[in-house]
Amino acid sequence: MEDIHVANAKKNIAKAGFLDIEIDPTLDLFSEIERLKKEKNAILLAHYYQEPDIQDVADYIGDSLGLAQKAEKTNADIIVFAGVHFMAETAKILNPNKKVLLPDLNAGCSLADSAPADLFKKFKDQHPDHIVISYINCSAEIKALSDIIVTSSNAEKIVESVPPNQKIIFAPDKNLGAYLVKKTGRDMVLWNGACMVHEIFSLEKITKLKIRHPNAKFIAHPECEEAVLRLADYIGSTTGLLKYTQQNDATEFIVATETGILHQMQKASPNKTFIPAPPNNSCACNDCPHMKLNTLEKLYLCMEYETPEIIMDEELRKASKKPIDRMLEISAKYGL
Ligand code: 13P
Ligand code: SF4
Repeated sequence: MEDIHVANAKKNIAKAGFLDIEIDPTLDLFSEIERLKKEKNAILLAHYYQEPDIQDVADYIGDSLGLAQKAEKTNADIIVFAGVHFMAETAKILNPNKKVLLPDLNAGCSLADSAPADLFKKFKDQHPDHIVISYINCSAEIKALSDIIVTSSNAEKIVESVPPNQKIIFAPDKNLGAYLVKKTGRDMVLWNGACMVHEIFSLEKITKLKIRHPNAKFIAHPECEEAVLRLADYIGSTTGLLKYTQQNDATEFIVATETGILHQMQKASPNKTFIPAPPNNSCACNDCPHMKLNTLEKLYLCMEYETPEIIMDEELRKASKKPIDRMLEISAKYGL
């Protein structure tokens, strides 16, 4: 029988988005999470933007493509997703028979929110001869309206794989879209969405920082604005950025993406220096407020009580799976 306290707390998840139960402060959450993983045959997948403690206890840390590929292949009974909602939802779309948990259901994404499905449907209807390529940072409803899903690590190859005379809508990120137009020469129709974290960088402060650190490489995620990308020595997905810092001889890097990735960069290259690119005001705005809703405490509670869980309508799940499958097929073909 479920504890009445827990049963009531679960009812409140709909409002709070997470289990609000006090945890014994003497508990070693790292070993508790390890114990729960084994007992429940659960895999813990984490994005690079999660807080360092969560990254350190994860079974796999990756970018959006790596996480989707790992979720597709796992034999675990439970997928615990330390990331944001669209990532956990993608894992559920690929694994209808597994339980997919997200420590805080409020962990959304400003980019995904910038494309409401009803407005996007009207936009799509205005371009009937176009196919839709959507960035994985979108809702299942947008995925269901799309032909192919991409991530920042396979977008260029996938856009290039589309026959040259085929017209394309790209959604929802206008910055990644503009970057792809430049790289591939394809004249795509862009949806006007953006990520709040990657639009916050200050061109002026980055320029000054580059002058103060003349030997530093400036690296940026393609969700950044074009003016910022123009300054970059390397542009890539979070995994791409991490690999670049490992393989490049430089000892200093200015990093224009969410600060969570610096934890893995520093771990992989302890003797190198990583400087977060400065935002255009004095707050820590290049921390993603959605990603950072997940905490070690919420992670422990969600594993212990197996909630909050991602639940999906089956019709929507099937419709949104098709363009994800296409992405995974094309990625496998190119060895991505
Ligand atoms: P990637 O990890 O795929 O580069 O995506 C970055 C991001 O913004 C995820 O929300
Ligand atoms: Fe969304 Fe941007 Fe946060 Fe990534 S960093 S989850 S794109 S708001």
